[in-house]
Amino acid sequence: MSESPQSGTEKIVKKWKKKRGALIMALHEIQDVKGYVPWEDASEVAIGMDIPLARVYEVLTFYNFFKLEAPGRAVISVCTGTACFLKGNDQVLEEFKKELGVSEGESTPDKLFHLQSVRCVGCCGLAPVIVINGKTYGRIKPSDVRGIIEEWRTNFASE
Ligand code: FES
Repeated sequence: MSESPQSGTEKIVKKWKKKRGALIMALHEIQDVKGYVPWEDASEVAIGMDIPLARVYEVLTFYNFFKLEAPGRAVISVCTGTACFLKGNDQVLEEFKKELGVSEGESTPDKLFHLQSVRCVGCCGLAPVIVINGKTYGRIKPSDVRGIIEEWRTNFASE
């Protein structure tokens, strides 16, 4: 019998459940992967960690760092953790900046793309890595960037 696949958030909850500062770290990691903390994920954390949803809400609203809304339709997270950095992800980040005409932490004027750098997203074996709306791209090269942006533009256009 095959197991049902775990969502990214489910894995994050399992990873942090019994650790100190677990709630903040789990929310942090969700934001790193998704660019913000969607409400469904916040309630998944509350249930998975057995913490009242009100407490999760309190933490999310207390720290300015947490974003509760997507800053762009596609949130591009470029991992700048050590493994990815050593494999040249800084060049991938530069290529995204050039192609989108934005700096790190900014969104395109049409709000289609938001670019951010994040700490290790836990897939170092695939370095260098980027994550877009929860979809992981491994062994990425600067020459892949234009095609990836086009892929997302096409997705949006067909919606
Ligand atoms: S350093 Fe990039 S996934 Fe770990």
